[in-house]
Amino acid sequence: MTCSAVVPAAGRGQRLGGREKPLLPLAGRPALAWVLEALSASGVIAEIIVVASEANREAVESLCTALGLSLPVQVVIGGAERALSVRAGVEHVPDDRRYVLIHDAARPLVTLELVRRAIAAALRHGAAVAAIPVTDTIKQVARDGRVVTTPERSTLVAAQTPQVFRLDWLREAYRRAGAQWVIATDEAMLLERAGFPVYVFPGDPENLKLTTPLDVTIAELILERRMRGNA
Ligand code: CTP
Ligand code: MG
Repeated sequence: MTCSAVVPAAGRGQRLGGREKPLLPLAGRPALAWVLEALSASGVIAEIIVVASEANREAVESLCTALGLSLPVQVVIGGAERALSVRAGVEHVPDDRRYVLIHDAARPLVTLELVRRAIAAALRHGAAVAAIPVTDTIKQVARDGRVVTTPERSTLVAAQTPQVFRLDWLREAYRRAGAQWVIATDEAMLLERAGFPVYVFPGDPENLKLTTPLDVTIAELILERRMRGNA
């Protein structure tokens, strides 16, 4: 197996009133547990590196131990920004892995099918990002609220995780980004800037990110529906 997974879980959940998203119970189990189980069940991941904060490290470690997954899970400490946390995780990926999959702990609705699709796309392209069509019309606006332009909707997609990259490309992208890399809101952006070809593959509209209380409500409904077997 040639792919490691890095799961950033060191955020503070400020838009959720400071609630720890990775540990948030959803349909009976913490969000991070749903993520780790999907990664494990996919059968295409060699080990998982979970990036925790100083504050949630103990709880994250206990959860990982309690799950008793069949693949190795390592917990490392992240940084103040998501990009720093992911980079800290990537530093722990063994050098002989060919690919790294990055998936946010805050996206508990990921499925083993989506993980497999991500790896298949990365094997084909070297760098692959889950994405879904945008349904809203997106406007670019100036600081004073004036609309600058309306990009053609058919050219726009919303990027999700999982994102899977060749490990050598990602490490090279970090090198080329120099001091600028920390501003990247996802790792695909770093590879794009470094000139590597990045491709999208079909994500899943249900693979939402827990950001606001509304997302938590919806995620719980979807997980309960899946558990009833009507997915
Ligand atoms: N994350 C991280 N380290 C950080 C910030 C975020 O590992 N310093 C992780 C989060 O735990 C989450 C993912 O990156 O799994 C996406 O981040 P986001 O949805 O923004 O979560 P938070 O940063 O926790 O939320 P908020 O921005 O509302 O504080
Ligand atoms: Mg954040």
